[in-house]
Amino acid sequence: MVPARLVTMEVIIQPNQEAAAALVARIVARELRSNPHLVLGLATGQTMECVYRHLVRLHQTEKLDFSLCRTFNLDEYVGLFPSDPNSYRHYMNHHLFRHVNVDPRNTYLPNGLAADLDEECRRYESAIKRFGGIDLQLLGIGKAGHIGFNEPLSALRSRTRVKALTPTTLKQNASTFGGEENMPRRAITMGVGTILECRRCILLATGASKANVISRAVEGPITSMISASALQLHARSTVIVDEDAAGNLVEKDYYRWIFANEPEWEEYR
Ligand code: GLP
Repeated sequence: MVPARLVTMEVIIQPNQEAAAALVARIVARELRSNPHLVLGLATGQTMECVYRHLVRLHQTEKLDFSLCRTFNLDEYVGLFPSDPNSYRHYMNHHLFRHVNVDPRNTYLPNGLAADLDEECRRYESAIKRFGGIDLQLLGIGKAGHIGFNEPLSALRSRTRVKALTPTTLKQNASTFGGEENMPRRAITMGVGTILECRRCILLATGASKANVISRAVEGPITSMISASALQLHARSTVIVDEDAAGNLVEKDYYRWIFANEPEWEEYR
């Protein structure tokens, strides 16, 4: 049961990218220590690489134990082999899974190579349900405001499905593919509705290029044009940003006061 005063979106501003990522890793570590069977939702993208570096370090230096947890990733490109360096399976192996003691059989990503993609989406949703739902979901945010690959106009109640990528997303993610023309145009993504069912959501955004979209997601109206704004409907979502990504937020002083004074953040200050 979430205490009533926690039913809110919280914003935590950290001095820089490193501190913001370290805070996310500490929250994950805390949750994992209090529940070794944690069902952990994972995200990809450059922003998250720093979080995974911290988690690997916590595993190595403080024996953070992943052996009993299960992980579900938000999304995967359609048509890429797991061995493809641009696939999210490859990303996860490279940045986290192979460096910690998670059982590879307990790591789930949608299969973008499935013959029947719609069936694969249903299968993914049932797997999440089978393990009791996601306890803690990590999220990044795309420049188009997406969480997972929930591009503009994704229904707020959408479930895991195949989604066509927008030009903004193709442009944002093209560099590692050596150009947009080499990128898959579609991905399987958890839906906004799937994400809203996770017990706790942590969204991390760093850098000035995210300042505009963060202010729209956090302080703007809830709209399917910015799927991250749906987190305003969530019972416990925390947005962690560095000073650059917080640049356009109006209520910064209020967010800082809460982080400095609320008892549940004491151990993280
Ligand atoms: C991809 C992922 C998103 C992620 C976004 C942010 O589009 N599908 O889940 O939030 O990248 O990427 P970056 O952290 O590189 O800005």
